[in-house]
Amino acid sequence: MDNSISKYNIGMIGLGTMGRNLALNLADNGFSVSGYDKSPKMLIQFQNKEEANQELGAFSELSQFMDSLELPRKIILLVPAGIIVDQVIEELKPLLTTGDILIDSGNSHFSDTQRRADELQSSGFHFFGMGISGGEEGARFGPSLMPGGDKIAYEHVKPMLEAVSAKVDNEPCVKYIGSGSAGHFVKMTHNGIEYAIMQLLSEVYGIFKHGLKYSNTEIYQAFNKWNSEELKSFLVEITAEIFNYKDPETGLDLIDLIKDQAKSKGTGKWTSQIAMDLEVPVPTIDISVTSRSISKLKTLRTNLSNKFGNTAQIEKLSISESDLKSAYFVAMAASYAQGIHLLSEASLHYKYGLKIAEIAEIWRGGCIIRASFLNTIFKAYTNNPNLTHLFGDPELMLQLKHHRTGLANVVAAVAKTGLVMPALASSLTYLDTLLTENLPSNLTQAQRDYFGAHTFERTDKDGVFHADWLNLN
Ligand code: 6PG
Repeated sequence: MDNSISKYNIGMIGLGTMGRNLALNLADNGFSVSGYDKSPKMLIQFQNKEEANQELGAFSELSQFMDSLELPRKIILLVPAGIIVDQVIEELKPLLTTGDILIDSGNSHFSDTQRRADELQSSGFHFFGMGISGGEEGARFGPSLMPGGDKIAYEHVKPMLEAVSAKVDNEPCVKYIGSGSAGHFVKMTHNGIEYAIMQLLSEVYGIFKHGLKYSNTEIYQAFNKWNSEELKSFLVEITAEIFNYKDPETGLDLIDLIKDQAKSKGTGKWTSQIAMDLEVPVPTIDISVTSRSISKLKTLRTNLSNKFGNTAQIEKLSISESDLKSAYFVAMAASYAQGIHLLSEASLHYKYGLKIAEIAEIWRGGCIIRASFLNTIFKAYTNNPNLTHLFGDPELMLQLKHHRTGLANVVAAVAKTGLVMPALASSLTYLDTLLTENLPSNLTQAQRDYFGAHTFERTDKDGVFHADWLNLN
């Protein structure tokens, strides 16, 4: 630790786990970092880091912190999303010099990022939002980074970001994502997919345990095996490890001691909200957000389940592990497809200029949804950058054809038992609906016209029509 270095290369505001780890990562890569935090506890933790070296400074006075940085200043904000980001920016404004660059790397809502970028641009400062994924480990040793917005400012810090990011095949997992709030939009969507995959893995676990009567060790072995094949991914890997972990206090499997109530910070919900606004169907993501809400209704679930008498032992299901694997494959593919569909539509709506192949590329390493399947997405959008929907990729279509029966078998068998599988079922419905040329939605249109004169279009001629429904002929 050395506050006497003349000027530091980059500043970090917010020395919580993520900020601290990213600062250490920058220092490892040869950049001198000055840290700022209001909390004495955070500063002490930062100062006491064994890994800390002479490249790090630590300040609790904002003006001193600002004076410690070389010009133009490059400052990363890693503070909780929301009002705190606005408060920090307000405090910084009088201390900034024209040309300084602020990078918000928290999980900010993309609309806040757009507003902040507009406001700061008119004040003469650079500001851009950058999604960062990979949790604590990622921040420390190589995250996936999703910067968007002010491209000139990004180019300025590009070498630093490339140095600290994860690498796959020697390629840094960071690329300029697109204009405006693109970085945070893409990170939000990443999290929507993350929610879906996590929910799917929870459902698969429930089916392994209650439907196939697997022990925790067998579940560990199954997920471990899945992780060496086409389903290889970070989330499958850590899921396997969770089933192999003993509680140090009791010696029991820790998973069995954890409450079945899942919390959330909101990024999944935001994904569903904006998808609804843009009319992009993301049902696997939606149901995953809803599933966390239902999980929290423990008292209600307990009461209703007792009243219903939902206590019967579930018979062993007549499905194979291979069916379950196929089911997970299709539903996992549906989750990515939904997120990417949302990105494609948002790119048109907000004029982000997103390149899906590049996004798939930087998601291959460092981030929570890194998976072999991203290679399929990368290939699909490299072959056809204008692909309307991931399911339109001929190779993937063949795989979906092959695995659909497994998903249908699982959904059919599980439905009879009352075991939960909302995201698996929703994914099957999503696929089947997209594969249906003629939906029964003509009736919905007729009903709207019947009670509200909302008009309808016809299959046999152009134009907009209204029928006199009450006047039966
Ligand atoms: C990541 C994670 C990270 C965070 C989630 C947790 O990409 O590194 O997504 O951003 O762990 O936001 O979200 P919930 O608390 O909502 O599950």
